[in-house]
Amino acid sequence: MIPGVPGESQVYLNGEFLRVDEAKVSVLDRGFIFGDGIYEVVPVYHGNAFRMAEHLNRLDRSLAALRIAQPFGREGWIDLIQQLLARTDMETCIVYLQVTRGVAKRDHQFPSVPVAPTVFGMVSAWSPPTAAQRAQGVAAIGIPDERWLHCEIKSVSLLGNVLAKQQAVDAQVDEVVQFRDGYLTEGSSTNIWVVSGGKLLAPPKNNLILEGIRYGLMGELAAEAGIPFESRRISQQEVEQADELMLSSATKEVLAIVSLDGKPVGSGKPGPVFEQLRAGYDARIAAL
Ligand code: PDD
Repeated sequence: MIPGVPGESQVYLNGEFLRVDEAKVSVLDRGFIFGDGIYEVVPVYHGNAFRMAEHLNRLDRSLAALRIAQPFGREGWIDLIQQLLARTDMETCIVYLQVTRGVAKRDHQFPSVPVAPTVFGMVSAWSPPTAAQRAQGVAAIGIPDERWLHCEIKSVSLLGNVLAKQQAVDAQVDEVVQFRDGYLTEGSSTNIWVVSGGKLLAPPKNNLILEGIRYGLMGELAAEAGIPFESRRISQQEVEQADELMLSSATKEVLAIVSLDGKPVGSGKPGPVFEQLRAGYDARIAAL
């Protein structure tokens, strides 16, 4: 038994559907040895995968960036997601997908003889943010971004993100806000949004952040609500003086950050721009 993981839930591993405690990966899998792989986290509402095409596009980009062979075509991925969902009675859940470079003798360079990538998929229990989190917002601390310079790849090499998130837990807050060279990057597992002078700001899409699927969505929601949106470098000082801060991710959706380093952000309550974007997000989910 793995604590917190229902033994009966079925996972997909290399062509088979298995009980989670029966699914085994070789100790020589390069995902295990080197963290040499990529992943996706797709939220599912009432049995419908949200922004699936965008998640699968990013999965393709991550595989291409690491030069890992694409195991399936687009139809194959959609079919896998549908098969995983058909094997669970959870209606609102997470589909987790992972591909590693496969199993080979331990050598840093790519295997000289092509190996089949390891493909893993599972459905995980998930509850969207609670009414209290939505109404009250969450707390964060600012920390230096100590990760590598290819944060745009959704790689399973997540040690920097793991250590960053643990700093949040140790400080008894919900998330970190990371800064590199005095400029905002992102959270440990979220994108960060700044509202200043009525404008929604986000750091540019480059190698220093993961382009969240909600990055594009927030831009659409801002346009629909008539909120001006700008993607540009944002200094730590601008973040500290922001009228509103928000975070977004598949699992946190969009939440207001109401305290940073123990100080209130703006009014210390979720602000009006958050409320508009949140309403837009809810409408998209309701329309699924
Ligand atoms: N994390 N930035 C980082 C570093 C992330 O890990 C994530 C998502 C995001 C937001 O991306 P999206 O909107 O596509 O969820 C930004 C997922 C949820 C995770 O690792 O569990």
